[in-house]
Amino acid sequence: MTTRRSFLAALAGTSVSLPVFREHAITRVTRAAEIAGERTPERLADDEAYWSEIQRAFDVDRTMVNLNNGGCSPAPTHVLEQMIRDLKFSNELPVYNMWSVLEPRIESVRRDLARDFGCDPEEMAITRNASEANEIMILGLDLKPGDEVVVTNQNYGRMLTTWRQRARRDGIVLKEISFKVPPPSQEYLVDQFRAALTPRTRVIEVTHITNLTGQVMPVKELVELARPRGIEVFVDGAHAYAHFPFQRNDLGCDYYGTSLHKWLLVPIGAGFLYVRKDKQKNLWPMMAAPPEMDENIRKYEEIGTHPAANHNAIAAALAFHRGVGADRKVARLRWLRDRWAKRLAAESDRVRILTPLDSPYSGAIGFFTVTGMDMARLNAWLLEKHRIVNTLINHPEFTGLRITPNVYTTPDEVDLFAEKVLEAIRKGVV
Ligand SMILES: Cc1ncc(COP(=O)(O)O)c(C=O)c1O
Repeated sequence: MTTRRSFLAALAGTSVSLPVFREHAITRVTRAAEIAGERTPERLADDEAYWSEIQRAFDVDRTMVNLNNGGCSPAPTHVLEQMIRDLKFSNELPVYNMWSVLEPRIESVRRDLARDFGCDPEEMAITRNASEANEIMILGLDLKPGDEVVVTNQNYGRMLTTWRQRARRDGIVLKEISFKVPPPSQEYLVDQFRAALTPRTRVIEVTHITNLTGQVMPVKELVELARPRGIEVFVDGAHAYAHFPFQRNDLGCDYYGTSLHKWLLVPIGAGFLYVRKDKQKNLWPMMAAPPEMDENIRKYEEIGTHPAANHNAIAAALAFHRGVGADRKVARLRWLRDRWAKRLAAESDRVRILTPLDSPYSGAIGFFTVTGMDMARLNAWLLEKHRIVNTLINHPEFTGLRITPNVYTTPDEVDLFAEKVLEAIRKGVV
């Protein structure tokens, strides 16, 4: 649990030298930590004195209510400034400032991320987003025609597209399973995967938390199911890392890809790929690397000329994240989600929430649908008439709106959204 003592220790424990934290950002997080005292994350979740300090670390456009933090998220101002400083410095003399001064700093970013995720730095590659990390996994394993891969039809669209291309190109067999939302239990989810396995199954790709209804999937149980059968489990954690607390050993997985511009709040263009040491030799990089790098995690970073500023900004975002504390963050996010979701469900019997509430298997992402309402029209009405940004989800098995607040979201913003949805249910969207 994050306490004032652990917050200060967390700051001291990063490789980030304090000057990267703008003075006022330090003051904000320190003041917030003082307000928090020794209270539990749950008791702090509705304390506006604490959370308003965190909100002030962001310069966001408050003329709109952004409830699509699932797509990507604004970064705290001091994190963005760190990146801009590096970009400017780089541009003064890129061949030296970028390659010789800034690029080597990727090693301390690797070390900090590895410590937070709970793996060895030699298992941590920095990528530009989750798509890159996941595609390295999906395209990187040798598979023969007829080899089977099991995914769900709620995996991320780009990942399914990548698998389908592999099926066309390499003749692998892709099995897309379906599951109910919300599922009756985590065991039910494992059973759906188990039923799809055959002696030819080589890979399971699972989304740690889905981008559709925000369902947390039973990754550890799937790894335990797959490993004795020699099946690899690729985990798409685009929405999970820094959203709710967990480490590699909680999952036991060998492969993990994530974006860092979602929940870690890094400016756009950052992600990571974890590959367990003994799995690296057999997982090819997407851009070629020499054979001497076969067992070197840096082979996945052989991407040609790229800005060093993006990956170095990860260090500042990680320090901010530790300052807030993963446990406090998810408690607040669930509180904000419950504030709208439970109200809608209580005030209208036409509302159906497809995200598990009062459950460890969900976080900030909430999904709802309204019986008898055109959800695309509701989405457009909220945006055009009330400047509230949501995400319309059109899945073959369900249609509705995904609502995703973040730590800078205020209760007033969430309340406005809930009031407008209830108004739409009462009066229609005109
Ligand atoms: C589950 C999931 N996987 C992968 C991605 C891809 O992330 P990125 O666009 O950062 O590469 C997303 C993006 O929303 C996602 O939700």
